Amino acid sequence: MDNISSRYFNDTFSLAGKKVLVTGGGRGLGMAFSISLAQAGADIVLVSRTSTELEETAEKIRGFGRKAFVVTADLTKENDVKEMADAINNVFGHVDILINNAGIGSIVGSIAEMSLSDWQLVMDTNVTSIFLCSKAIIPLMKNKERKGKIINISSMYGLVVNRYLEGGAYCTSKFAVIGLTKALASDLAPYNITVNAIAPGFCRTKPNENFFHSHPELYEKLIDMIPLQRICEPKELSGLAVYLSSEASDFMTGSVLVIDGGYTIW
Ligand SMILES: NC(=O)c1ccc[n+]([C@@H]2O[C@H](COP(=O)([O-])OP(=O)(O)OC[C@H]3O[C@@H](n4cnc5c(N)ncnc54)[C@H](OP(=O)(O)O)[C@@H]3O)[C@@H](O)[C@H]2O)c1
Repeated sequence: MDNISSRYFNDTFSLAGKKVLVTGGGRGLGMAFSISLAQAGADIVLVSRTSTELEETAEKIRGFGRKAFVVTADLTKENDVKEMADAINNVFGHVDILINNAGIGSIVGSIAEMSLSDWQLVMDTNVTSIFLCSKAIIPLMKNKERKGKIINISSMYGLVVNRYLEGGAYCTSKFAVIGLTKALASDLAPYNITVNAIAPGFCRTKPNENFFHSHPELYEKLIDMIPLQRICEPKELSGLAVYLSSEASDFMTGSVLVIDGGYTIW
């Protein structure tokens, strides 16, 4: 590649100086998103309920020479979310990119037998938190001179229903994340804020590893449903997160990018 083209690609995908909020940024996929965006030049605010995990990730980000700032909040609580937005406003003054990643996947069981409190916990954590965070952060994004980017983390189970895991509530919530993404994309287009969703397949995170370790027969069945015959390493989502955060995706909004090893083909 000649120098001009390589400069074009570096500039287009660069996040230098961008201010990013990653929810659930202390571990798992949120940690992978935070680190990859920091490597692309962004300063990151990390939020969840567990400050120790957030601080560990923040230290890694500072190791790349980027700024990292930690806020503890329960994102299902409107007051916590408002205080988080105030704290970010005080430190960064604005937000360029919001990654709504925090979520819960551990509650399983058939819908017919599920308690209302379990159902509500899944909806509050996976859907209402995105509503609350977006509502609180959009005012920090709206600016005639700048573009804003919101990336919502759905799942391949926001597109197809999970067959063996009795994850009906989770699937419902992740389908809703896609609906919310499209509705927000429509609302925010006049403000030059794009909103897209990532729909990942099974990733190698601690909760998944523990679950598959205790259910080896299920692991075999699920791997057999993935054309690429393996699960995803969290860092394999990094390129997509950087793309959706960068100028390279400026004309994309209301889209769902599936990265699932082919699971949803069959
Ligand atoms: N791993 C996969 O295979 C996979 C596949 C498709 C989609 N996803 C989605 O990707 C996202 C991340 O998944 P993951 O596997 O990385 O999960 P994880 O390791 O359990 O991380 C979830 C993150 O969300 C935070 N969180 C949960 N509830 C919260 C609340 N009420 N307030 C604030 N923060 C909260 C957690 O921190 P605290 O508990 O400390 O608050 C944690 O940082 C989720 O939305 C998940 O549904 C994952």
